[in-house]
Amino acid sequence: MPYSTSSGASSPGRFSSGSESGDIDTPFTERSILFDDHDIDVAVQQSVNDQHILVVGGCGFIGSHTVWELAKAGYNVVIIDNLSNAFSSVFDRLETMVTHHYETVKPGCRQPSLKLYEADFRDTETLTKILESYETPLGFRQHPNDEQRSTISGVIHFAAYKAVGESIKQPLKYYANNVGGLIDFCDLLSDFGIRNFVFSSSATVYGTVADIGVPLREEYCSQETTVFIDEDDQKKVVQAGCSGLTNPYGRTKWMCEAILNDLAHADPSWTITALRYFNPIGCDESGLLGEDPRTAATNLMPVVLRVLTGEAPALNIYGDDYDTPDGTAVRDYIHVTDLARGHLAALKSRADKGFRVYNLGSGRGHSVLDLVAAMEQVSQRKIPTQLVGRREGDVGMCVAKAGRAQEELGWRTEKTLETCCRDVWRFLEHVVAEDSRAKI
Ligand code: UD1
Repeated sequence: MPYSTSSGASSPGRFSSGSESGDIDTPFTERSILFDDHDIDVAVQQSVNDQHILVVGGCGFIGSHTVWELAKAGYNVVIIDNLSNAFSSVFDRLETMVTHHYETVKPGCRQPSLKLYEADFRDTETLTKILESYETPLGFRQHPNDEQRSTISGVIHFAAYKAVGESIKQPLKYYANNVGGLIDFCDLLSDFGIRNFVFSSSATVYGTVADIGVPLREEYCSQETTVFIDEDDQKKVVQAGCSGLTNPYGRTKWMCEAILNDLAHADPSWTITALRYFNPIGCDESGLLGEDPRTAATNLMPVVLRVLTGEAPALNIYGDDYDTPDGTAVRDYIHVTDLARGHLAALKSRADKGFRVYNLGSGRGHSVLDLVAAMEQVSQRKIPTQLVGRREGDVGMCVAKAGRAQEELGWRTEKTLETCCRDVWRFLEHVVAEDSRAKI
């Protein structure tokens, strides 16, 4: 039964805001003489329906889309973000979108709470205070074990550095944040009895295995020796390890998977899901959320958008001599909304414990020229291009074998490359309109 919740958390981080509303009805309207009003408020607050999902890095591109999907699905969301590569205005927009959604699309439904703490997930002292504020009071735990110790029932961890070039120049920064940060964070979560964890991994872990030219199965990059029957009906044995990782960023993702696998082995009370993202593009269909980092991304779609807005004169095409239909490199582009929903599927559908990896990709490949053509079609504008040499560390083809996520999580992509382009174009028009309004 829905009733209103109040996250009631203190604000150890610098910035904190909340939005919550909804109807208050039974069972707590019938007040018990055994408890005073405060106890009852706490009981309401800490009831089963007051579970939260903690999203670390929830103001970034994928994080914000995931928060939006979580909120639409009714989850209370707590965001921790140091805003190093995102803006707090994203959170304001999310609040507005969620309120509007519950007023217009779901009137009468309980609006979940959203909360942002501006904090670094490596700041253990601040994190401890935040996690303490989500603890279930002792008297309200049904079991003496610590499974119900926290009202945070799941964590999605996005807060990692991801620029390949920067990782080559500043490897220690990447190992400290992505790997060291993860270790301390998991340690802290465990102290609070929070052991349901979704990790942002990447197709980059396949390294040069991607170049075999067939869709990539999760088994091709394994954290332990894996035996399976491949597409050609042959029994294959893959030893634990990775092959041909070309940069520190990629190595951090692989190391994190290995660490999480070891953790789940050592402590079977953990449920850890590593999601290997292929190439996320697109944005929410409203055009209100998009990719808006502080540091300009060098991935294909952001560069295409900079060319469309005149910020860059032309798109450099990195190589046309790959073994692909048109010679340009092929990737599995996945709409960020589909990707975000993959996280919800991971939270909802993992009934088992332990460590498990899933590809989040469509299983379809598109070349650089396909993406340019689709974007030209949608925008009705010419995108100037110039052919340059291959980019160091690039593979010719990287496409997911997508079956495992469908079979085990009930998730698959729904949106096409054209939809990605249409939604991104809408976002661009929205941003341009906002910019010109701001200048008036
Ligand atoms: C890149 C990262 C990868 C990371 C992923 C998600 C590299 C080598 N790899 O993947 O580790 O997990 O982003 O952030 O950076 N392209 C152009 N011109 C451009 C930009 C890209 O032709 O200006 C081409 C690339 O050569 C590639 C394709 O477009 O073939 C996609 O590139 P990109 O969006 O950077 O993604 P990945 O290289 O697949």
